[in-house]
Amino acid sequence: MKVLAAVLERFNGPFSIREVDLNVRPNDVVVNVKSVGVCGRDVVVWRGGFRNLRPPLILGHEVFGEVDGRPVAVFPAEVDEYCLTEHSGSENLCESYSILGEGRPGGYATRIAVPRWNLIELPDRDYDRYAAAACGVATFIHASKVAAVTRESRVLVTGATGGVGIHGVQYLSKVVGAEVYAYARNLEKAKALEGLGVHTVTDFSFYKKEGRVDAVIEVVGGPTINNSILALRPQGTLVLVGNVTGEEIRLQRPALVVMRELKITGSAAYTKAEYEEAIRLIHEGLIRPFYRAYRLEEVNEAYRDIVEGRVLGRAVLRP
Ligand SMILES: NC(=O)c1ccc[n+]([C@@H]2O[C@H](COP(=O)([O-])OP(=O)(O)OC[C@H]3O[C@@H](n4cnc5c(N)ncnc54)[C@H](OP(=O)(O)O)[C@@H]3O)[C@@H](O)[C@H]2O)c1
Ligand SMILES: [Zn+2]
Repeated sequence: MKVLAAVLERFNGPFSIREVDLNVRPNDVVVNVKSVGVCGRDVVVWRGGFRNLRPPLILGHEVFGEVDGRPVAVFPAEVDEYCLTEHSGSENLCESYSILGEGRPGGYATRIAVPRWNLIELPDRDYDRYAAAACGVATFIHASKVAAVTRESRVLVTGATGGVGIHGVQYLSKVVGAEVYAYARNLEKAKALEGLGVHTVTDFSFYKKEGRVDAVIEVVGGPTINNSILALRPQGTLVLVGNVTGEEIRLQRPALVVMRELKITGSAAYTKAEYEEAIRLIHEGLIRPFYRAYRLEEVNEAYRDIVEGRVLGRAVLRP
């Protein structure tokens, strides 16, 4: 079967829009893609930040579309049978957990072939809204468990104007009920955070007046981590969710981590149940999606806008 796809031919280079053969394996289902989000992870791959990957690649794991006219979501990662039987409910930690677009071809295409297990029924056809918010909300559902965030917690989130952050902070404030400090570097974009139930901060010294936080959900990584650590209370937890540049991270003041007994941990994506929960929250209107839509053929424009900081929330592609 032929499909039209945006193909990453070389790192940091333009995508080419061309016809490719879709490999449909036994037990696969073919999904007509209606909307696919451009995750910050895709951008890290595009920059060459995942050294195990080699172009050509068809990226895209935030896939929403139709099977036989029925609206579906595609769970963003593939896992093997062993994982599903032995580690169901913690499949995000399986060695076989492979993000779509990095193992098999992803959703920057008119169609995608995925195992039937990956299909999730969608309650409506607002594909762009799910493509904008589902990965970010699911990421925060998982990360807030890792950081043991409760309604009593005070949490700092970096990258709060990006696709993961702007939807994640809403989960923390509106669903968990935590007190959220949302860090944004761009003052203009930061205004969008008003009305989301968070304290917007554009300077890391906020804690000198407001007090330190119990947890940091570090979405940006290298560029902010040394500042966000300063805002953590003794025995607080920093959860590393992302590292936008894909480069090495250096700890400038390791003594702080020692003397304050800080915990630094990671958060690895999400389970299928967490992704389904994110879809439910978006459907119920608890999460306001922020996105800009592009045609698949405009993928290079979308990447340019992302890299130059012009997108608030998610860029979504409509094949
Ligand atoms: N662990 C997981 O489960 C998981 C899941 C999804 C994504 N991720 C990772 O999370 C990261 C972000 O993803 P995303 O989808 O939110 O990306 P995104 O939509 O491109 O947003 C990136 C965010 O980082 C900010 N940022 C970029 N460079 C910065 C710098 N030098 N200083 C301060 N802020 C900076 C951006 O600020 P502006 O808005 O001002 O440009 C924006 O808020 C990526 O590394 C991705 O791989 C992890
Ligand atoms: Zn994603």
